Amino acid sequence: LSANAPLSIAEYERDARESLPSVLFDLIFGQYGASGWETNTNNVDGYRRLVLRPRVLAGIGEPRIETNALDEKLQLPVILAPVGLQERCHPEAELASARAAGRAGTILAVSTVASYTLEQIAAAATGALWFQLYFFRDRALNRLLVERAERAGYRAIIVTVDNVAVNSRERYQLLNAKLRQSETAAPGLPASAPVGAVLANFADVDGPGLPTLEALSESLEPRLTWDDIDSLRKWTRLPIVVKGIQTAEDALLCAERGFAGLIVSNHGGHALNGARATIEALPEIAAAVGRRLEVYVDGGIRSGSDVLKAVALGARAVLVGRAMMWGLAAAGEEGVFAALRVIQSELATAMALCGTGDLTTIPAGLVVPRASA
Ligand SMILES: Cc1cc2nc3c(=O)[nH]c(=O)nc-3n(C[C@H](O)[C@H](O)[C@H](O)COP(=O)(O)O)c2cc1C
Repeated sequence: LSANAPLSIAEYERDARESLPSVLFDLIFGQYGASGWETNTNNVDGYRRLVLRPRVLAGIGEPRIETNALDEKLQLPVILAPVGLQERCHPEAELASARAAGRAGTILAVSTVASYTLEQIAAAATGALWFQLYFFRDRALNRLLVERAERAGYRAIIVTVDNVAVNSRERYQLLNAKLRQSETAAPGLPASAPVGAVLANFADVDGPGLPTLEALSESLEPRLTWDDIDSLRKWTRLPIVVKGIQTAEDALLCAERGFAGLIVSNHGGHALNGARATIEALPEIAAAVGRRLEVYVDGGIRSGSDVLKAVALGARAVLVGRAMMWGLAAAGEEGVFAALRVIQSELATAMALCGTGDLTTIPAGLVVPRASA
């Protein structure tokens, strides 16, 4: 361990903020530089408004933190979230994240807009992968992507449903333009995908109007419905996980439609401004669907205690976006692996100190609102 290796996700964040061009950091991790943009802050604050009520003398020793996700064994209840264009943090991008996930014994969810093709990532991966689909107006494209994912050995399809309208497009474009002009881009890092470049997953696909990063939001289906998501079953036998659920009502529809899982998510704060913290949405969702489908949560997870709170409130596992990317920015595969190790060891310690021996026997009442909240 080097003397200045980050020891917390907050330290990874600080280092990423120092090493990446500030406009890039704002673009991808901030809220497009908008000071009134609240949702990401809400996600993080949601965990601060909850506190742990530890029991002692339970004779626990080393807690067991393994779990499973759609029949996949996980060494820890932390999955790497689908985050597009990881090249913006490290040239090895998703190839590095995939190797780190395999080493840590967890899953990488690969974005539709990954910096490498889904096949290249599958070839580099040493563990299980899930494929995240953005649902396009062009149905043939959706079919092509899920079929390619299944053929390449992906184990599940995540469909992201929370960005049928794109918020703050102008600000995003402005920041992107600034980024391209910026001469402060760290050496060796492509500051952003070249304007008009076709995204990696579409490079070999024939046909007009294929999505570039700039055209992505216009290419996506703005009138997305439950039937659209259902229709994917015609093209794949893989389990389908719906990402972007924020209410008990929609969670019940996921269960009624027979989807394998859902992710309580607000896109890490990049979609609806003013949404509540995902950790605040989780309890009503977990209560509504029980064990009818697998419930995951993401948004704002920065420590092992956060993971414990999420699992205590009904999540099977969590996904992390920013924590992974800050690790990637620090040191590629090693950085993502080390960031996961930080969360893993914090989680094990928190469980031991709460008298909780495994993830399935967390007592009711472990998590309570902070008195001053
Ligand atoms: C830079 C960035 C890019 C993202 N790209 C995608 C994406 O391509 N597809 C997707 O479904 N979600 C995307 N997300 C959302 C993440 O999957 C996840 O919901 C979010 O990052 C979780 O919050 P956290 O970053 O606080 O952990 C992105 C998030 C960030 C920060």
